[in-house]
Amino acid sequence: MSNPRVLLLGAPGAGKGTQSSRISDGFGVDHITTGDALRANKGMDISELGFEHDTPGEFMDSGELVPDEVVNEIVVTALDDTDGFVLDGYPRNIEQAEFLDARTELDAVIRLTVDDAELVNRLTGRRVCPDCGENYHVEFDQPAESGICDECGAELIQREDDTEATVRERLRVFAENTEPVIDHYAGTDAYVEIDGEETPDAVWDAVETTIEQRV
Ligand code: AP5
Repeated sequence: MSNPRVLLLGAPGAGKGTQSSRISDGFGVDHITTGDALRANKGMDISELGFEHDTPGEFMDSGELVPDEVVNEIVVTALDDTDGFVLDGYPRNIEQAEFLDARTELDAVIRLTVDDAELVNRLTGRRVCPDCGENYHVEFDQPAESGICDECGAELIQREDDTEATVRERLRVFAENTEPVIDHYAGTDAYVEIDGEETPDAVWDAVETTIEQRV
């Protein structure tokens, strides 16, 4: 079996990060995530591009998309270094999708579907470990000791873009910019929709089977 090239699509909170980690571990491929790459470079000076904000972090904390020039560069560099991959959080608009199509083929394009009310609940309740990146939820996935990461013992935090107002703006931006990306891939042989409201294990079973059938 060759290394799969997988694109995961879904709204904020649909479980892309959760399932990408499993794909990366299960199939031994790189996890390329523009969100994590941008969070690691939130303070980068991009003022010379002439947009309304001077750093990626200012776009992210208001729920807006970071300019394509910045994000495309991250993806090109990551794709150059990899064979198989799971791409999470990119492309988010048609321009990014066309940019990607010109650079690589995809074996599986998986869309995770989740209702908006559930997305808001998941994101506003999410807590993350700033050191190792592990995800938790205040109701559904609590650590053994409240507020402390099971994996590395660091104090958990809430992502700055997980407040209710910013989550709602992210969902609006998703509907406006990223739903056309879903239409772009829907109907291709690689495209599959999976119910993201099932448990993480049930979603993973469906994701794993889908990838195995396509490589
Ligand atoms: P990014 O980091 O990509 O965020 P996102 O797409 O909004 O997705 P999230 O990470 O919030 O959610 P997820 O789908 O990964 O869900 P997760 O598995 O964590 O982007 C952040 C920002 O960066 C953007 O707003 C933008 O500004 C910028 N950016 C990034 N890429 C860009 C691009 N290409 N172009 C321009 N700008 C870009 O799960 C969420 C929660 O639900 C967790 O608590 C988890 O435990 C729980 N959960 C997961 N699965 C289940 C399940 N099956 N059942 C119950 N709970 C579950």
